[in-house]
Amino acid sequence: MSETLGTQHLLGIDDLTKDDIELILRTADGFKEVLARPMRKVPSLRDLTVANIFFENSTRTRLSFELAEKRLSADVVNFSAAASSTKKGETLLDTVNNILAMKVDLVVLRHQDPGAAVFLARNTKARIVNAGDGAHEHPTQALLDAYSIKEKFGRVAGLKVAIVGDILHSRVAWSNVLCLRKLGAEVMLCGPVTLIPKHAAELGVRISHDLDEALRWCDVANMLRIQMERQGGGPAYFPSLREYTMLYGLNRERYDRIGKEVVIMHPGPINRGVELSSDLADSAESIILQQVENGVAVRMAVLYLLAAGLDRTGNP
Ligand code: NCD
Repeated sequence: MSETLGTQHLLGIDDLTKDDIELILRTADGFKEVLARPMRKVPSLRDLTVANIFFENSTRTRLSFELAEKRLSADVVNFSAAASSTKKGETLLDTVNNILAMKVDLVVLRHQDPGAAVFLARNTKARIVNAGDGAHEHPTQALLDAYSIKEKFGRVAGLKVAIVGDILHSRVAWSNVLCLRKLGAEVMLCGPVTLIPKHAAELGVRISHDLDEALRWCDVANMLRIQMERQGGGPAYFPSLREYTMLYGLNRERYDRIGKEVVIMHPGPINRGVELSSDLADSAESIILQQVENGVAVRMAVLYLLAAGLDRTGNP
């Protein structure tokens, strides 16, 4: 069992081996224990500075990273594009290099463009953690999802996971497919024809356009939000939200018709009453808040493992 990651950055699940993923999940177990103590803090990153650089809106992911960093005793700086000089025409590379000139060791980056994290990793000296790049990857979300599934079932291998909704625009879906497949789960993508990428079947996943069929098949249903902001603001891929909800929304009546237990997940933010009804989101069948709780431990694990590879002798 390896105790170090095979990568210097966390740019996507695509770059991780099954061993890497298992190491992160194992390390997160230790941090989950730390978070249950009255003193929820360890000194592991005491000598390091982390910058959270967010060019896109975020609540959960940003708070989760910041808490993870603080619980590891890192110094933390936050940058939000809305209040920054990018509005004055500064490039991404200039913004980040200026931040790095202030001696930052790790950068957590969320950006609207796919490939932004890879670009920074190639062009700066810091370790980069991708916190979501356009519709490409969102690796820590997939890792915390896998962790939450494992916590619930005791395993991931052999389980059947349906990912439902706006697959086309979802970095969560893509990272989840890669992560779950590497861990030996079976995956089904379910949604309207227009929201499932054309060549998705080549990823080794099942495809369904029928939510009831997907629910009868799966152990876990991960309900995704319709990414309106990536559809030009309105529903461009189906006639109306009302029709979408009728066909692909999960509610109590539909759930009860399956006649078996399916664990409900959602990466947040939830559009209550669209992809998931309020009562189900808050029900005993949902592990949505456990996902959020586990996010901190998983992000602590990622930061801790990446920091282990840094030169911390103080040499310039
Ligand atoms: C997701 C994201 O931003 O990709 N949310 C998250 O990080 N928890 C999913 C979404 O925005 O729907």
